[in-house]
Amino acid sequence: MLTVEDVQLSFGGVKALSGVSVEAAKGRITAVIGPNGAGKTSLFNVISGFYKPQSGRVVLDGEDITRLKPHARAYRGMSRTFQNIALFSGMTVLDNVKLGAHTRLTGGVLSSGLRLPSSRREEAELDAEIRRDVLGMLELDRVQNSHVEDLPYGLQKRVELARALVMRPKILLLDEPVAGMNREEKREMGRFVTDVRDRLNTTVLLIEHDMGMVMGISDHIVVLSFGKPIASGTPERIRQDPDVIKAYLGGAEDAADDKAA
Ligand SMILES: Nc1ncnc2c1ncn2[C@@H]1O[C@H](COP(=O)(O)OP(=O)(O)OP(=O)(O)O)[C@@H](O)[C@H]1O
Ligand SMILES: [Mg+2]
Repeated sequence: MLTVEDVQLSFGGVKALSGVSVEAAKGRITAVIGPNGAGKTSLFNVISGFYKPQSGRVVLDGEDITRLKPHARAYRGMSRTFQNIALFSGMTVLDNVKLGAHTRLTGGVLSSGLRLPSSRREEAELDAEIRRDVLGMLELDRVQNSHVEDLPYGLQKRVELARALVMRPKILLLDEPVAGMNREEKREMGRFVTDVRDRLNTTVLLIEHDMGMVMGISDHIVVLSFGKPIASGTPERIRQDPDVIKAYLGGAEDAADDKAA
């Protein structure tokens, strides 16, 4: 569904990404992990169009989108959540989720501004669909009329997930979906992300610090270290990969060595 091919990205003298290739297979959950400063966020920004790589390509469903702006990628079926909550307080869950559908409402600004019957009907249909499919599946139907700021953190993150889903994306990009969550919230989010894969067949690409979450839900994992891919494979393979263990435990081993010395 999505391929990143041999991407190079530098900030002045800092090489954030060099020779990075990643493939997110259709209907699968692919995770990008790596220690601090490995280039995860940079890669995410290249994929979503916020950064332009110096070389390499990003291909979505066969189309080279490397030069497209973020909104043009959204229209082609790329949807994302942000690491920090990006909801509109003072608005309900349903209204926040509906905002995600702006790329799908075909009526256009003029007819929806005049509230012509076609767009009103379209909106009513959209409401029904959102309630049934997205809010139901993510178990948000009971809080659909609550203001988002009154919800606990874990539920707010789930509202963001719902909003990213209403445009029925080909690919869903999740930026550290369980950052700041407690154990129970993490478990729930993991369950909902796998539900999205299993029930909507959505392709998911996530970056995440939380190893437990990544190992638990991913079909395929890519590990970055200092801007380069050092391993990729199934969770079982990644867990045993000596380079990965070294990259993650390097600091801890050094500390142990220091202690021994
Ligand atoms: N906008 C920027 N300007 C300059 N340097 C940057 C910029 N963004 C990232 N970098 C540098 O690129 C490298 C990769 O950073 P990046 O934020 O992509 O890593 P990360 O894997 O997301 O790290 P973390 O786990 O801490 O979020 C780092 O050396 C970082 O300092
Ligand atoms: Mg980051």
